Amino acid sequence: MDVFWKRLGEPGQEVCTIDTQGGLGLTGMVTADFDGQPAAVAYRVAADAASGVTRTADVTMQWAGAVRTLSLRHDDDGRWWVNARHEPTLDNLEDVDLGVTPATNTLPIRRLGLAVGASGTTTAAWVRFPALTVTPLAQRYTRQAGDRYVYESLASGYRALLTVDADGVVQHYEGAWRRVLLAPAPRDPAIQPLSPRHFDEIAGSVDRWWGRPVADLLHRFMFRHFCDTSFVVHVDGRPVAFLLGFVSPAHPDEAYVHMLGVDPAHRGQQWGRRLYEAFFSLVHQRGVVRVRAVTSPINRASIAFHQAVGFTLEPGDRMVDGIPVHTGHDGPGVDRVAFVYHLD
Ligand SMILES: CC(C)(COP(=O)(O)OP(=O)(O)OC[C@H]1O[C@@H](n2cnc3c(N)ncnc32)[C@H](O)[C@@H]1OP(=O)(O)O)[C@@H](O)C(=O)NCCC(=O)NCCS
Repeated sequence: MDVFWKRLGEPGQEVCTIDTQGGLGLTGMVTADFDGQPAAVAYRVAADAASGVTRTADVTMQWAGAVRTLSLRHDDDGRWWVNARHEPTLDNLEDVDLGVTPATNTLPIRRLGLAVGASGTTTAAWVRFPALTVTPLAQRYTRQAGDRYVYESLASGYRALLTVDADGVVQHYEGAWRRVLLAPAPRDPAIQPLSPRHFDEIAGSVDRWWGRPVADLLHRFMFRHFCDTSFVVHVDGRPVAFLLGFVSPAHPDEAYVHMLGVDPAHRGQQWGRRLYEAFFSLVHQRGVVRVRAVTSPINRASIAFHQAVGFTLEPGDRMVDGIPVHTGHDGPGVDRVAFVYHLD
């Protein structure tokens, strides 16, 4: 499996091939920035199938006009060899922790096999960049939920929330990395990514599509900032359906669909369902486990459509004609029906 991460808040990205057959193999290429100078780091890590213990780690770093390498070997007697020299301070450590990548967090996450609510400590052979020094680093992992761990460095007190997928691969590392999709093209060729140039056409159509004024719910910034998670369908060069959604910056395991609309002349052809399916598939690959949306209680077509697609209705504070309603959800007098779709 190929995994792509982007660094949050500073330059850097990575592609890593993760092999879970017969032990864990991590082969990654990272671009980063150390002291304002660009760096490229290639690494390869291998861990035992049975024990999950790291056996080898090799790093090559190009930085500041030089190429440097690091080789770690962990032998059957628990000794660690750093560039072929025995390093007694690392003896009997089980994991390697390469500071440039979230890939190596998967080593203790898989090896410890914690139950939800449990904590485990480990001391890793910690490789710091760009110095390529290796020192022991005591750390604790606490599994808060099936897909969530709190990582703590016991020496510094540094803590971060990690969201992981079913293989223990980091989806989001608080303040540091976010996993992104390698190939964002949706499977359905008629469904294309939304782009800022579609704003005027779509904003000019939605009042007619909805049969009431809704254009003020659309803003140009949404087409600019949510375009990598939104879609449009064109027929004869004109947009006939669109979905505007995004992955929550605050809750990376959650996505939200702000608007989905189909031209009345093109309804009943599964465009609405296909747009949702394209969105589900895309955000699922980014670590999202649930998708939320709201609609107006008077929009019975939308409620029926969302239920047909597989959304469930969130309990509200009152029932109106058998539908749970959230009174004043979007301001005084602006009631909503809330939906959730569980991707797992
Ligand atoms: C709601 C809307 C998006 C549905 O789009 P669509 O492309 O016609 O829907 P689909 O063809 O994909 O239908 C998917 C399923 O929903 C059901 N459905 C769609 N519209 C429905 C309606 N008015 N009443 C009951 N069921 C409906 C379909 O029967 C279908 O179910 P099935 O696959 O089990 O047969 C479209 O009517 C629309 O754009 N309405 C105005 C905008 C709106 O309200 N958007 C939603 C809130 S943001």
